[in-house]
Amino acid sequence: MAESDNLKPHAIFIPYPLQGHVIPSVELAIKLASRGFKITFVNTQSIHHHTSKAQPKTGGNLFAAAREAGQDIDYTTVSDGLPVEFDRSLNHDQFMASLLHVFSAHVDELVGKLVKSSVNTAPVTCLIADTFFVWPGKVAKKYDLLYVSFWTEPALVYSLYFHVDLLRKNGHFACHDVREDDINYIPGVKSIDPSDMMSYLQDANVTTVCHQIIFNAFKDVRESHYVLCNTVEEIESETITPLHAKIPFYAIGPLFPNRFNKSIVATSLWSESDRSQWLNTKPQGSVLYVSFGSYAHVSKRDLIEIADGLELSKVNFVWVLRPDIVSSEDTDPLPSGFKERTSDRGIIIQWCCQKSVLAHPAIGGFLTHCGWNSTLESIWCSVPLLCFPLLTDQFTNRKLIVDDWKVGTNLCDWKVVKKEVVSNKINHLMDVKSGDEFRKAVAKVRKTMENALKPNGSSEQNIDTFIKDLKAGMRK
Ligand code: UDX
Repeated sequence: MAESDNLKPHAIFIPYPLQGHVIPSVELAIKLASRGFKITFVNTQSIHHHTSKAQPKTGGNLFAAAREAGQDIDYTTVSDGLPVEFDRSLNHDQFMASLLHVFSAHVDELVGKLVKSSVNTAPVTCLIADTFFVWPGKVAKKYDLLYVSFWTEPALVYSLYFHVDLLRKNGHFACHDVREDDINYIPGVKSIDPSDMMSYLQDANVTTVCHQIIFNAFKDVRESHYVLCNTVEEIESETITPLHAKIPFYAIGPLFPNRFNKSIVATSLWSESDRSQWLNTKPQGSVLYVSFGSYAHVSKRDLIEIADGLELSKVNFVWVLRPDIVSSEDTDPLPSGFKERTSDRGIIIQWCCQKSVLAHPAIGGFLTHCGWNSTLESIWCSVPLLCFPLLTDQFTNRKLIVDDWKVGTNLCDWKVVKKEVVSNKINHLMDVKSGDEFRKAVAKVRKTMENALKPNGSSEQNIDTFIKDLKAGMRK
């Protein structure tokens, strides 16, 4: 047996403090702990505050149940630089600026303490941190740790950011008269329309805080020793293969709890409303699930057209409407009387356990913003998607869903949302006949995902290879 097989990796794991990043991070932490890692999981105080307020039963340690189940996971918190009660949704730029400029100092101090205190017990060996952070490479180097970068979005999105200099050089990004023709020079990306790139790569102003985060993060990721990606090798193989030549890149997704809709660790930032009894009364495949994720905002105009389209369509629906969906200063943006007029066939809630809703047999379609977690979860439940991307990677994810895998369709063909089109698209997707092509395609991709998670499947093998490579790195 090689000496490295006896080494127990101890990872400090720091997820990006946003809902869609915390969820897969928790599942990755659990997966690694179940394969012999010691994990010290670090949430920001704000994430901790919202999660424990939403689920008071969890107490102070969100990972207590995982510990009881035998997983070696410690849990602690760190400040992101802002007061816990600060409205991060309303003051998004200030929040991002704090993550860009202030967070690293708090992390540096915490990592220093953890490294020092663990030296005689279980020495910290690596730092697992979200690729969007601008500091992990530097912090890992300072404390002599291996840096494992965790990418929560598709490999295609990673590759486009990774090659941002190529896009600049070729005039598709950050220049006067940006080219509008297809991009066909990114390794592993056959051809992509610029309007399918992430919103940040389509912006005319590239000096925003988010741009600085992206540019710095993708500089820092070049210092990483390993990149773990929440995707599946087979569904993105063309993109992943050339990445292997640049960086040790492992597709290890989809990252879900062992029991799909029952994680042993609470992750929701808002309390979950359980409408399974209502769903139980609805025929199979008859309910459209509508949610725009945890983070993006919808304009009031679009929201009203969507509501009117939903009303016109006559389908049953469960609609997750976060109170800040338009803005935390406009918490009741629906057309007046909408709730009353649709109460016999629709329910509106603020948040739910999305995995449980998607897994319910009554759900027949998902009107979604195309967040990557939502995309993976929907495919896993064989639920076809109706796509309404709003920002960041969601435009690129839409391309994968609609153009490449054909597991869904667009909510509107041009960027203008019109209630008549919304209604037609909903009916097209939900209809037994016209929706069949999507249901067949989604079942096929679901099978590929399922195979990847089998003991000899690609994701399981990739995670084993990663652990082997990491242990080899620990010996150096
Ligand atoms: C953003 C990006 O668009 C996404 O691609 C990236 O991976 C994370 O950040 P977000 O708006 O958070 O996404 O959407 P998504 O990635 O779909 O994640 C939302 C998560 O919240 C999903 O895991 C979903 O199951 C969960 N959720 C959502 C709930 O548990 N309940 C809800 O009511 C709504």
